[in-house]
Amino acid sequence: MMISKRIRTMDDWVDMFHSWQEDIGLDLPEVKKYQFTELYDTDATTGTEIEFGDFAGNKKWNSVLEVPTQNIRDTLLQLTYVQGDTEFASVEQQRLLVNNAPHEYDRYALVRIMIEEMRHGWQMCDVLVRYFGDSGKVEARKLLERRASEAFPGSKGGKRLLGSFNQAVNNWVDFYSYTCFVDRDGKYQLGMLAPSAFAPLARSAGPMLREEAFHLGSGQDGLKRIILGNRLPIPLLQKYVNKWVSTAHDLFGKDGSSTAEWGYVWGLKGRFDEREQKDKTNFDRKTLNDHNRTLYHNEVAEILRKLNIHIEETGRKEKLVMPHLKFRREIGDWAGGQFDIHGNEIKDKAAYDQYLRDNMPSEHDEAKAADIAKDNAWIQDKKLPPNAWDFKPMTTR
Ligand SMILES: [Fe+2]
Ligand SMILES: [Fe+2]
Repeated sequence: MMISKRIRTMDDWVDMFHSWQEDIGLDLPEVKKYQFTELYDTDATTGTEIEFGDFAGNKKWNSVLEVPTQNIRDTLLQLTYVQGDTEFASVEQQRLLVNNAPHEYDRYALVRIMIEEMRHGWQMCDVLVRYFGDSGKVEARKLLERRASEAFPGSKGGKRLLGSFNQAVNNWVDFYSYTCFVDRDGKYQLGMLAPSAFAPLARSAGPMLREEAFHLGSGQDGLKRIILGNRLPIPLLQKYVNKWVSTAHDLFGKDGSSTAEWGYVWGLKGRFDEREQKDKTNFDRKTLNDHNRTLYHNEVAEILRKLNIHIEETGRKEKLVMPHLKFRREIGDWAGGQFDIHGNEIKDKAAYDQYLRDNMPSEHDEAKAADIAKDNAWIQDKKLPPNAWDFKPMTTR
């Protein structure tokens, strides 16, 4: 694959995007048919005044030249390419499932989600190429060079930037857990960028969030359909919940992060519920990541509570447990700790390693899941809505 090509315009980038699709083996008629495009909401929708931080009340920045300092420009660039990196990564992680969808509906959900993630990657690259000069063009290229490491071991372009986006998505239990829990993190990240002082980023977030809603919904619904299929044992499903919720907790970053604090002070990235928050100045800016992570955690706990009702409907006694914030963390105050999914410490290292082997999907579990999935009835079928395949990029507002 040609990788070192210099990007001067968005057209150059689009050529590279097609080479990337080829390189990861994504040769689908549905992808070829889709009109990829960048979508920006209007100023009237997103507002023209900076909403929080030291520049609150000033006019939002419409170009990088209007951004007051180099530090702020650098942080903005980073926020943009990190978001873009996750979008392409998820496609790399999910692409092989297209060959073994249990039902037509599942294939539709997967293909649509992958296409929309590619559009989100395209969107972030449009921001990079259009607004950030040479450094933006370099980052837009790198987004197509890095690879999700467990999906492409030993890739020359290096790993994806965040942990979750390097992990393997091996089967449909992974896929629906991923879309329910990791895409939900995406909703939070985009929600934090939506009130950004940098107008192009703020105007990008709306259409992406509207598309993201389908991903989260498919994830939650997919887990429900697996439960109602009544074949996959709940303790096995729990292991996938453990895998994806714990890594999604990490995606919110360090507790007491100075990056998050500056991102807030500069008005670049707010709280997920920024627009509902009255207090913009006196709250503790050192706990921003924790604030957002807790909102996320509580939302996921509520989803599991609802899924448990469906388990009950199938006559089973087991319940899914919401993994504790301390469980299997690699980032933040609990990183490297040894805790079970209830938050109890396991002091002995060997006992903890054994606990992880017993509570995370193992090769044996994957073989078992594959065996159960031989009969498509393991996941409840779902009717494809009429014209489902005619989905198009969202309209802007
Ligand atoms: Fe996305
Ligand atoms: Fe998504």
